[in-house]
Amino acid sequence: MNLIFMGPPGAGKGTQAARIAGQRGMAHISTGDMLRAASEAGTPLGLQAREIMARGDLVPDDVMIGLIRERLGEPDTRAGFILDGFPRTLAQAEALDGMLTDIGRELSLVPVFDIPEATLIDRLCGRRVCHAAQHVYHVDNNPPRVPGICDADGSELYQRDDDRPDVVRARYQKQWVDAAGPVRDYYADRGLIVHIDAAAPQEQVAREIDEVLDRADGEAA
Ligand code: AP5
Repeated sequence: MNLIFMGPPGAGKGTQAARIAGQRGMAHISTGDMLRAASEAGTPLGLQAREIMARGDLVPDDVMIGLIRERLGEPDTRAGFILDGFPRTLAQAEALDGMLTDIGRELSLVPVFDIPEATLIDRLCGRRVCHAAQHVYHVDNNPPRVPGICDADGSELYQRDDDRPDVVRARYQKQWVDAAGPVRDYYADRGLIVHIDAAAPQEQVAREIDEVLDRADGEAA
C-alpha cells in the first residue's frame, strides 16, 4: 500500500504513521522529521528550513520535491510507504504523480485526519519529541516512563520550536486552512480520500485506520 496522511498540525498523523509502518513493514516518510534531522545536523538545508519552520511557513516546493524524489528511490519504499507531510501544495502533488509514474507505483488511499483547531493547541503544547529519532510523546496523553527521557532510545526529549501556541495557530491557518484545500480536492476527484475522526482517543483512531486499511487491502487482493 502507498498512502498519504493528510491533516492539520498535531492531528496525530506522525503517531499513527509510525505505528502502522512498524506493524506493516512500510516506510514512514515524514518530511517534518527529515527537515528537523537536517536542522539538528546543521546542514545548509537544515539551517534554511529551521527559520521557515519556526515561522510556521512552508519550505519551498523545489526543496521538498527534491527530498522526496531521492527518498522514494530508496529500497525500503518497495514494500509500501506512508507519506506524512507531503504533498502540501498542488505543485508537490503534481510532482509526486510524475515520481510515482517513474517508479511504477500508484497511490492506494489518502486518509484525512479530521480534528477541531482547539484540540490541536493542547496536543501540540504538550508534545515532546526525542533528539535521537523524533519519537513522539505527550506530557499528559502519552507520557514517557521517565519524564524527559525517550522510552525507545534513552535520548532527551525536547519541545519543538514550532509548537508554541502562536506558531501552531499560524501553521493551522497558513498550511491547513489556506493551502491544503486544493490538495484534498485533487485526491477527492480520484476517489482516494477517506476521513478519520482524529479527535478520538489514540487507540480508537488506531482501530478506525486499521479497519480502513484492512478493507482496502481486502478489496485489492
Ligand atoms: P511536520 O512535522 O510535518 O508538522 P505537521 O504536519 O504540522 O504535523 P505535526 O508533526 O505537528 O503533527 P502530527 O499530525 O504528526 O501529530 P503527532 O502524531 O505528532 O512539519 C513541520 C514543518 O516542516 C512544517 O510546518 C513546514 O514548515 C515544514 N514542512 C514539512 N513538510 C513540508 C512540505 N511538504 N512542504 C513544505 N514545508 C514542509 O501528535 C501530536 C501530539 O498529540 C503528540 O504529542 C501525540 O502524542 C498526541 N496525540 C496523537 N494522537 C492523539 C490522540 N488521538 N489523542 C490524544 N493525543 C494524541
